[in-house]
Amino acid sequence: MCKIINLDINGYNYKLPVVSGTFYEKAINISKLRENTGLITFDPGLKNTGLSKSSISFIDGEKGILLYRGYPIEQIINKCSFVETSYLLLNGELPNSKQLESFSNQIKEFHYMNQEIYQIFDKIPDFYHPMGILSSFTCILTAFIKNKYLKEQDMYLHLLAKLPILAALTYRKKVGLPPSHVDKNLSYTSNILKMFFSFPKKYYETNPIITDALDKLLILHADHEQNCSTTTVRLLSSAHAGLFSSVSAGISALWGRLHGGANQAVIEMLENILKSGGNIQKWIEKAKNKKDPFRLMGFGHRIYKNFDPRARIIKKVAQKIISQLDMDNPILKLANELEEVAIQDSYFKEKKLYPNIDFYSGIIYQAIGIPKDMFTVMFALGRLPGWMAHWKEMRLNRDPIGRPRQIYIGYKKRNIVECVDEGI
Ligand code: SDX
Repeated sequence: MCKIINLDINGYNYKLPVVSGTFYEKAINISKLRENTGLITFDPGLKNTGLSKSSISFIDGEKGILLYRGYPIEQIINKCSFVETSYLLLNGELPNSKQLESFSNQIKEFHYMNQEIYQIFDKIPDFYHPMGILSSFTCILTAFIKNKYLKEQDMYLHLLAKLPILAALTYRKKVGLPPSHVDKNLSYTSNILKMFFSFPKKYYETNPIITDALDKLLILHADHEQNCSTTTVRLLSSAHAGLFSSVSAGISALWGRLHGGANQAVIEMLENILKSGGNIQKWIEKAKNKKDPFRLMGFGHRIYKNFDPRARIIKKVAQKIISQLDMDNPILKLANELEEVAIQDSYFKEKKLYPNIDFYSGIIYQAIGIPKDMFTVMFALGRLPGWMAHWKEMRLNRDPIGRPRQIYIGYKKRNIVECVDEGI
C-alpha cells in the first residue's frame, strides 16, 4: 500500500501520510488535516478512528484473532495463569519463574485493607450497585496510601491486591458475612474465592475446578485493545490523571449495559426467555424487529465480525464446569440452543452478529456462586491489568491530551433580551 494518500478538496491536492502497524492495518494520519484544509473528520463511535499506537493487544475481527503482547489467547489460556498474564500485559514479556514468584509475593504484600475502609464500607446503603462501590472505593483507596511518592510498580501491585478485596467485601456485606482475609499459602485466584465464600471459623477448602474456571475467566477478560472502558482509562491518562482515578473511571465505563454490563443482562435475558416458556424463535424475532428495543444481549461486537475467540473458549469452560460440578443448568442448555438458532438466522448472518465474551461468562459466574449484579465486578477484576498497561503506555507514548473536535449544531450567536418585568 502507498505511503501517501492524495486528498483533493476544492481543487487543492493534499498529501496525507499513511501509518502502518505490525500486521496489515493501515491508517491515514490526519493530525494536520484541519491545519492544512480547515476540515475535520466526523466518526460517531470512533468506528473508523485510531486514537493511539499500542503494542499491548491485537484483534483481527474478521479472522477472530486476539493476541496479548503477540501471544494468541488460545495459548495463554492453556499455558499461563492470570498473574502471569497480568505480568505480561504490564511488562511486555512473560515472567520467568523467579520473576513470577517475586511478582506474586509482592502482590501478597499489598493484600491488606486499612481499617478505615471497613468502617466506610459499613455505611454503604444496601441498594448501592456493586460496580458503583468498586469504582468509588478504587478512588477512596488513594486517601489511605500514606506514602505520597509511591513507586509506579507499587501502584499496580496495590490495585491487583486490593480490587479483589473490595469485590469480596461487597459480596460478603450483601450476604451478611463478616470480612474474610487472604491466606498467604493460596494462589491469587484461590484467594479471591476464599475471600468471597469462606465461612468464619471454618477451614476453606479450595476447589480446583472452580479455581481453574475463574482463573480462565480473569485471563479472557484481561485486555481487549481500545474498547470503551480502556479508551476511557487512556483518555484520563492523557490528562495525566492518576492511575487509581483512571481505573475508577474505567470501572464506571465498563458498567454500561452495552459494554461489560452485558454479562448480567445476558443471564437476565435467558431467565426471562425461560420464564416466558422458552420460545427462542419469538425472542430472535424481537431482536430483529427494529421497532422493538430488545437486543440479543451477548451477541454482536464492534470489532469481531466472526466468532469472538474468547466466547469459543468460555463456552467450553462453561460446559466443563457444569458437567464436572454435575449441575443441572437449564440456562446453559437454553444458551446453546439460542446460539444455534441465532447463528443460522439470516439477520444475524448478514450483520455478522456472533456470541461475544459476555454470552457465556455469566453462566460460569453463576455456577461459581457469584450473584448477577456482581458479574461485571468480576469482569473488572479481569480487565484491571489491561487498563493499567494502557494507562502506563499512554504515559510512555507521551500522547497529547485527548480532546476531540465537534460539529456544532446549536443556536447561532444571540443576545440575552432583558425581559420586561410584567409586574404582578
Ligand atoms: C463487550 O469493544 C470491546 O472489545 C468490548 C468487549 C471487551 O472485551 O471490552 O468485547 C466487551 O462490551 C462485548 C459487547 C457486550 N455487549 C452486548 O452484548 C450488548 C448487545 N450487543 C450490541 O448492543 C452491539 O452489538 C454492540 C454494542 C456490542 C456493538 O455495537 P456496534 O458495533 O455499535 O453495532 P451497532 O449497534 O451499530 O449494530 C449494527 C447493526 C444494527 O442494525 P442496523 O441499524 O444496521 O439495521 O446490528 C444490529 C443493530 O441493530 N445489532 C443487533 C445486536 N447487535 C447489533 N441486533 C440485535 N441484537 C444485537 N445484540
